[in-house]
Amino acid sequence: MFRLGMLTSGGDCQALNAAMRGVVKTLCEKRDDVEIYGFQDGYKGLIYSNFKMLTAKDFSGILTMGGTILGTSRQPFKLMRVPDENGLDKVEAMKHTYHKLNLDCLVILGGNGTHKSANMLREEGLNVVTLPKTIDNDLWGTDMTFGFQSAVDIATDTIDRIHTTATSHSRVFIVEVMGHKVGWVTLHAGIAGGADIILLPEIPYDIDVIAEAINKRGKAGKHFTIIAVAEGAISKEDAKLSKKDLKAKKAKEKYPSVAYELAEKVQKKTDQEVRITVPGHTQRGGSPCAYDRVLATRLGAAAAEAILDSDFGNMLGVKNNKIVRIPLEEVAGKLKYVDPESEIVHEAKLAGISFGDE
Ligand code: F6P
Repeated sequence: MFRLGMLTSGGDCQALNAAMRGVVKTLCEKRDDVEIYGFQDGYKGLIYSNFKMLTAKDFSGILTMGGTILGTSRQPFKLMRVPDENGLDKVEAMKHTYHKLNLDCLVILGGNGTHKSANMLREEGLNVVTLPKTIDNDLWGTDMTFGFQSAVDIATDTIDRIHTTATSHSRVFIVEVMGHKVGWVTLHAGIAGGADIILLPEIPYDIDVIAEAINKRGKAGKHFTIIAVAEGAISKEDAKLSKKDLKAKKAKEKYPSVAYELAEKVQKKTDQEVRITVPGHTQRGGSPCAYDRVLATRLGAAAAEAILDSDFGNMLGVKNNKIVRIPLEEVAGKLKYVDPESEIVHEAKLAGISFGDE
């Protein structure tokens, strides 16, 4: 008997189900003695021993389904060792569940926080294999995470739709794109959607440069501007502040999000009407795009292959279109940022897109 535990943790994204299907399909092709324990709502299920017994049939027909059939939750890494209201040490509880059920391996699908916890479980002696999910594409060690391309498609569609109304009304439109502390989704959706200005956390902006870019467009007869701004974008002045001072400043200003702060600044500096669009969680919703279905299936199958090789303690990732196994200790705790000097940023600038920095 091979006992496989599986859980999805952190914010959901497209192709989680496709990836789990890939794991189970592959494993069940090779072995007919697989028992599947589906932990509910992320690490919570492992902590409180809340699981469903699943069969290969449960993973049939879910390739195109968004969300996760296992449910998910955020369990912050820094609270993992903090006892819960009943004095329960969560790490010990997870180890207990794993050993009580006699599991052979745990497949964990998640983003950054999830990988820190997965690496800790590896250090505690559990057999762990992980898969990189997140729309943010910020996981170190892989060129691409599944969920990212689907989110890019949705954000691009939003920018496309904003274009027609922005043109009709000669307005400045600010589209705020998800991505947490990094600008991958904004960069790709901004280019794909034909945004005129793209603002990323990795490239702090100068409001005067933005105003100049808008005014220049006006002088050239283009009376609308689309700004794609990452939710984590920051101004040059704010980037100079300490974490503590920045937090205090933000608390005082009370903007609902970066788009609102930017809108006020743009309004003051130009004479154009400004509107805001925040697609928010729609970017994580619905069916995965074809690219994500392929990537998730490949990664899932490769995870099963690693399990069959008894090669644990790795994240499956993609490098130059090849699936690779990356040691968890190399992945945990590191973010993959957009490089301001990268070719893609350089080429976008060549094509006339302003990043608000120069
Ligand atoms: O990590 C994915 C993500 O969608 C980020 O882009 C965003 O900052 C965050 O999750 C939103 O989290 P929540 O769903 O908990 O509001």
